[in-house]
Amino acid sequence: MTTPGNARPTDGPRLEDGDEVGDVIVTEAALQHRIAELGAAITADYAGRPPLLVGVLKGAFMFMSDLSRAIALPSEVDFMAVSSYGSATRTSGVVRIVKDLDVDLVDRHVLVVEDIVDSGLTLSYLQRYLLARQPASLEVCALLVKEGQQRTALDLRYVGFTIPADFVIGYGLDVAERYRNLPAIHDYRGPKP
Ligand code: IMP
Ligand code: MG
Repeated sequence: MTTPGNARPTDGPRLEDGDEVGDVIVTEAALQHRIAELGAAITADYAGRPPLLVGVLKGAFMFMSDLSRAIALPSEVDFMAVSSYGSATRTSGVVRIVKDLDVDLVDRHVLVVEDIVDSGLTLSYLQRYLLARQPASLEVCALLVKEGQQRTALDLRYVGFTIPADFVIGYGLDVAERYRNLPAIHDYRGPKP
């Protein structure tokens, strides 16, 4: 039984198949440091026009949790869930909306909170979808961007880290729904997803 008030062990949760979990690509400390910077930038940029943060589930759930607390404005949060057609790791750019937003976007300052941009096709689709709802503004905050992989021109207002184009897990990112609960971003060493 966990004693109330006990901190989480410093090496994070224990996971099965730990040999699939490779090197740390972005440490927990680096994530928190960069998120504080992003939060400060967003707080300054959106002063007087609080943003509606739109998280893309499931991958962005942890980033949204930390980023929203780093923004010192009366912002709101909402979530969408999307699933892309095609293989598990290569998006085709055709996206199915699994859960739509609960709120109206008309005249709202919308900031999309995304876990990772690979080809950029998912985000590109989402931007078009959200723009059609006539927000006052639409910007993107992506925690990770894979270097040299984008197949479409994207305007990413805020980026946490640019990383090599390898598959990564942790801090919300999964492989077959696993490893989302790792507190840092790791290289994935398992069988090719
Ligand atoms: P894109 O449409 O190719 O940019 O793919 C973006 C989506 O694919 C992200 O929102 C993630 O859900 C998923 N994805 C892309 N690369 C990775 C990765 O390295 N690890 C886990 N999920 C990834
Ligand atoms: Mg995903």
